Parts: sequence; structure tokens; C-alpha cells
Amino acid sequence: MPMITFLPVNKTVEAKPNQTILEVALEHEIPLQHACGGFCACTTCHVIVKSGDDQLSEMDDTEEERLDRASGVTLHSRLGCQARIKGDVTVEVVHPEA
Ligand code: FES
Repeated sequence: MPMITFLPVNKTVEAKPNQTILEVALEHEIPLQHACGGFCACTTCHVIVKSGDDQLSEMDDTEEERLDRASGVTLHSRLGCQARIKGDVTVEVVHPEA
């Protein structure tokens, strides 16, 4: 099973195959905002991938367009509700609390 580490809380948990980063965070009560409920309509679930970019599902056009409107976007930015976990990753949560 793939493992995912969330920063800054520094918590590592197991992900089920093909789960999104947001789904795993919610399951393990890791703070990760999701104002739109995971429908790729807000950007509050923004995370920065610290390692394992290639262990996430590819970004589709909708995610890319939505991320364009987020603040503090980097080359390693993803939306937690869209990126599915295929292998071990470490991500930093940009908006842990509302
Ligand atoms: S939860 Fe709104 S875009 Fe991911």
C-alpha cells in the first residue's frame, strides 16, 4: 500500500489504491481544507508535493485551470481532491485551517 506523509503535521498514513489525497486526509483527520467538497471548484485543498510527483495521477485540464487561480502555486502544486495516490508521496498542506 502506498504511504503518504502530510506536512506540516508530519503524519504518515497508508492510502488505499487510487484514493485522492483529500480522501486520505479526511479518513485520518488530517487538517486539509476542502471548501467545495472535493469538486475541483475552489483550490483550498492546494498541496505542494515535496516528493513523489510521479507517484500521483496525472493532472487533467480542469485541475490545471483551477490551480492557475490559486495563490502560491509552484511547479509541484496539486489539488488534494484531484490527485490520486499510486505510490509513496510527501505533501505539504497549504491551507490546514480555515
Ligand atoms: S476541495 Fe475544492 S478544489 Fe479541491
